[in-house]
Amino acid sequence: MAKIFVTRHVPGPGLQMLKDAGHELKINEEDRPLTEEEFNAELSSGEYDGVLSLLTDKIDVKVFDSAPSVKVFSNYAVGFNNIDIGEAKKRGIVISNTPGTSTNAVAEFTIALAMNIAKRVDEGDQFIRDGKYKGWNPNLLIGEEILNKTWGLIGAGRIGGRVAEILHKGFGMKIIYHDIKRNEDLEKDFGAEFKENIEDLIRESDIISLHVLLDETTKHLINKERIEMMKKTAVLVNTSRGPVVDEVAIVSALQNKKIRGFATDVYELEPSLAEGLKELPNVVLTPHIASATEEARNAMSVQAAENLIEFFAGREPKYIVG
Ligand code: DGY
Repeated sequence: MAKIFVTRHVPGPGLQMLKDAGHELKINEEDRPLTEEEFNAELSSGEYDGVLSLLTDKIDVKVFDSAPSVKVFSNYAVGFNNIDIGEAKKRGIVISNTPGTSTNAVAEFTIALAMNIAKRVDEGDQFIRDGKYKGWNPNLLIGEEILNKTWGLIGAGRIGGRVAEILHKGFGMKIIYHDIKRNEDLEKDFGAEFKENIEDLIRESDIISLHVLLDETTKHLINKERIEMMKKTAVLVNTSRGPVVDEVAIVSALQNKKIRGFATDVYELEPSLAEGLKELPNVVLTPHIASATEEARNAMSVQAAENLIEFFAGREPKYIVG
């Protein structure tokens, strides 16, 4: 039996699974992330063997130093950029995550964001709420159709792959993709075309969506120079991590109508927004909810719990990072 600290209450059956497996849980019942000081103080009690952490918990050298008894951090997320993986590896601390659990949720959300911009849904909603709707107008809020347009995927892993599948089966779009490695299944199954050079993809796409992990190679992957290569009618969608896009550069590009629109679920300095972002009409902003479906959050909770259960049973968890 292990003692596990849960950094915030999570939905789904995972916590009960841990209890049923005989583990003792202490759950932060505050409806907010713990501050760094609170987190370190809790762990330094030395009473915990494992932690169920969230992407809002910064897990670094300081945390590892204050928690020598903790041998495993099970991150309730696919992403793990909140954790110093290199340092964990050096110390023999196991880090696990929950890939596959939110693939469909995030893929559907990505497409919903793009459609929102293309069809000007939020702008229409705001127009009505502002009391501006005075009757049908042939010139009002003209959007665009995505049939026969080109969708560029940056990152062709699970989520990018599911986006490609939905687009191929349902929307009749041409799909191009860029990744550090080729995904031949995507080409065979959904007619996607590989672009070895990311700039070629950026120049040719009508809609670009981002599906990469955040690390030093993907920070500001979408920068001023690359935004300038986009079509004037392009839409950029980000459901990966905020810092993948240079937010100041994208605000300036949108203010100057260099591209058609930007839809994002994630922010460079989350939860803060770059100055000017929320004043723009051609953006759609959501609060990091792409995976917030009952199905995905349940699956995340099950996987995060299973990773801990396996670890404490002396077996290798299914999803280890690093
Ligand atoms: C993840 O899993 O990394 C998402 O950002 C939150 O669900």
